[in-house]
Amino acid sequence: MKTNVAIIIGFFLLGAFLVGYKITEQMNIPQKEAAPRYAEPSAREIAFNPPSLDDVPDGPVGEAIKYGHQLISETDTMLPDYVGNKLSCISCHAGGGLDINSSPFVGVTTAFPQYRPREGVVFTLEDRINGCMVRSMNGKELPYDSKEMRAMMAYLTYISEGIPVGADLPWRMQNSTDNLPIPNLEDGEKLYKQSCLACHGADGSGTGSSTGPALWGDNSFNDGAGLSRMTKLAGYIMNTMPKGQGGTLSDQEVSNLAAFILSMDRPEWKGHDTDWPNGGRPNDIINKELREQIRNGTIDWEQVLN
Ligand code: HEC
Ligand code: HEC
Repeated sequence: MKTNVAIIIGFFLLGAFLVGYKITEQMNIPQKEAAPRYAEPSAREIAFNPPSLDDVPDGPVGEAIKYGHQLISETDTMLPDYVGNKLSCISCHAGGGLDINSSPFVGVTTAFPQYRPREGVVFTLEDRINGCMVRSMNGKELPYDSKEMRAMMAYLTYISEGIPVGADLPWRMQNSTDNLPIPNLEDGEKLYKQSCLACHGADGSGTGSSTGPALWGDNSFNDGAGLSRMTKLAGYIMNTMPKGQGGTLSDQEVSNLAAFILSMDRPEWKGHDTDWPNGGRPNDIINKELREQIRNGTIDWEQVLN
C-alpha cells in the first residue's frame, strides 16, 4: 500500500518536473533576429580588412590615393562644376566607403566590369562612379582621363588591396529590403521629426554633407538615383540610421520614413525613358508622378511594393 502511494507520488513529481521543464524551454525561445545588418564573416569568407590610410605609400600613386580620398569626402565643395547638389560621396558611403554597413567600397575594384540592367550595358568602375555622379550627386560625368577620376580610382584600388577578382563580397549591395509593409505617411512624418530632423533639418535640406545630408529638395539626390526606390531607401535607413543606431527601426518604421521622404520634391532625372532598356524596370522607383500619388493618397502601394 505504502509503495503504491510512493509510486503515485513519484509519477506526480516526475510529471510536474516535465511540465516545468517544457515551460522553461518555451520561455527560452530565441529572440527574433534583429534587422538584417551585415554580420562578421565566418573564417572561410573574405575578411573586411582594408589597409589603413596611414600606410599609403609615398610618391605619385600615394598622392593620387590621398587626393581621391579627399574628393570622395568633400565632393560638393571640391568639384562644384560637377556636383549639382550639396552631397558628397560620404553622404551615403560613410567613412569614404570604409563603413561596413554604409554601401562600402572595399573590394569594389574586383567587382567590375559588370553588366548593369538599369543602363543595359557592361559598366567599368569609372562608369559606375559616373552613375553616382549624374544620379546621386545630380551632377555631370567626370572625364575619364581627368586627374579627379584617376585619383578616385587610385583610392578605390588601394582600399581593395588583397581581395581576389570576382570574390563574393558579403558586405556589397546589402542596403535593400524586400517585403516592405504598406507605409503610413503620417507616422513617417512623426518619426522623422522625432529621430531625424535634428541632423537632416525640418525641411529635409540637411545640416551638411557629412553631418546630416539633404534628404529631399534641390540639394538632394535626383529621382533616378538608387535611393529614390522604396526598397533601397528603406534598406539604407534600416541598416544605418539614425546615425550610430543602425538596426534599431522596424520594417514598418523604415517603410513609413522612406514613403515620407520620397513623397517630397527632389531633382528630376531626365533619363527615365531610356533606363532599363531590356526590361525589368522595378515598380518602386518614386518619380514625380508617384510622388504626387503618395501625397494625394491615390498610390497603389501593393503594386509599387510587389
Ligand atoms: C545619395 C546617395 C549616394 C551618393 C551621394 C553616392 N552614392 Fe554611390 N551608391 C549609392 C547606392 C545606393 C549604391 C548601390 C549600393 C548599395 O545598394 O548598397 C551606390 C553604389 C556605388 C558604387 C558601386 C558599389 C558596388 O559595390 O558595386 C560606386 C563605385 C559608387 N557608388 C561610387 C560613388 C562615388 C564615387 C560617389 C561620389 C562621387 C557616390 N557613389 C555618391 C548611393 C550614393
Ligand atoms: C546624428 C545625426 C543623424 C541622425 C539623427 C540621422 N542621420 Fe541620416 N545621416 C547622418 C549623416 C552624418 C549621414 C551621412 C552618412 C553617414 O555618415 O553615415 C546621413 C545620411 C543619411 C542618408 C543618406 C544620404 C542622403 O542625403 O540621402 C539618409 C537617407 C538618411 N541619413 C536618413 C536618415 C533618417 C530617415 C533618419 C531618422 C531615422 C536619420 N537619417 C537620422 C546623420 C544623421
